[in-house]
Amino acid sequence: MARITRQNDDTTFDCAEDDTILRAALRAGIGMPYSCNTGSCGNCRFELKEGAVEHLREDPPAWSERDLKRNRYLGCQAAPRGDCVVKFRAMDDYVPPHRPAIRKATLRAVTKITRDISDFAFEIEGDAAFEPGQYALLHVPGVDGGRAYSMSNLGEDGTWRFMIKDMPGGAATDWLFAAEPGAELVIDGPYGTAYLRPDVPRDIVLMAGGSGLSPMVSIARAALKHGLLDDRKLHLFYGCRDEPDLFDTDMLGDDLLARITCTPALSEPGTGAAWTGATGYLHDVVRDHMGEALAECEIYFAGPAVMAAAIQKMAHEAGVPMDRLHFDEFY
Ligand SMILES: Cc1cc2nc3c(=O)[nH]c(=O)nc-3n(C[C@H](O)[C@H](O)[C@H](O)COP(=O)(O)OP(=O)(O)OC[C@H]3O[C@@H](n4cnc5c(N)ncnc54)[C@H](O)[C@@H]3O)c2cc1C
Ligand code: FES
Repeated sequence: MARITRQNDDTTFDCAEDDTILRAALRAGIGMPYSCNTGSCGNCRFELKEGAVEHLREDPPAWSERDLKRNRYLGCQAAPRGDCVVKFRAMDDYVPPHRPAIRKATLRAVTKITRDISDFAFEIEGDAAFEPGQYALLHVPGVDGGRAYSMSNLGEDGTWRFMIKDMPGGAATDWLFAAEPGAELVIDGPYGTAYLRPDVPRDIVLMAGGSGLSPMVSIARAALKHGLLDDRKLHLFYGCRDEPDLFDTDMLGDDLLARITCTPALSEPGTGAAWTGATGYLHDVVRDHMGEALAECEIYFAGPAVMAAAIQKMAHEAGVPMDRLHFDEFY
């Protein structure tokens, strides 16, 4: 176990040699900035002042030679090699509402949702509390590094459910889609800051691209459960390519469906298809449907990085204050 000292204010926390500076800081309740947890966004960069660290992931996309020269590392990938002194700005927004923990999980059921997305239900050991919209790292046997997946349920019955897209040739998804109920893996979480803000009294807009549906469904379910839909509207937009990518809205349940609007949009409807719903890219569809009302809403979205960039641009042009946007990019 290494002792990490944050030079900014001399606070200290412990970090196991196979853990990372970011995750250990969050486990200690320190608000170290981050987003993806997989080495892709660069939000968790810190300066190493004393000691040595090693990146668990070789060549993480968000790290460069320039960082190395300045003694900067990625908190989500840097494992300590002995005691260290580090420098990073801690922020209240990143203090975890539930301290992330590493626990064993057992696969209980897999339910197909679209042609390439299935819902995986894992029974997890220990405290199952998380905020709707958060994600966890799934450590699949034989695969280096945890893969980020967002929960689709509310953690009821000690179960975390994840809607997972089958990535052709993907190391983790190959294992997951071949797994049978009873299979075991390790889950580390919860993580993420794009969770439901129940105290904000604005109407809610949820935008999901593909498997980004998972955290958006969790947020919608929580809004219903906590009575938020009594005094505000919730609009769920779901963007995908073609009809086989659509999900059956029945899975949301009658109670939720009766209280929200749900708008699926196809970006590439097949020729000759009988589709009469919305078409086009999700950000365009949302802008056209919501009009000026969008600027008054609290907005949550999840999906591919290219979609996230287009939504941020659209929201900015529509006059949405940036602190009303909560999102995870799926790298
Ligand atoms: C915050 C967040 C939430 C997400 N939520 C969902 C979701 O709910 N549903 C869903 O289907 N997808 C989600 N994703 C995307 C999902 O994480 C990727 O599709 C998944 O990692 C693919 O893994 P793979 O092993 O099958 O693919 P591969 O192609 O084998 O692996 C690629 C992925 O693994 C990462 N990676 C590769 N090597 C390492 C390593 N050594 N250590 C750590 N990471 C490594 C890459 O950055 C990339 O994300 C989310 C992504 C993020 C960042
Ligand atoms: S690179 Fe570390 S959180 Fe994204």
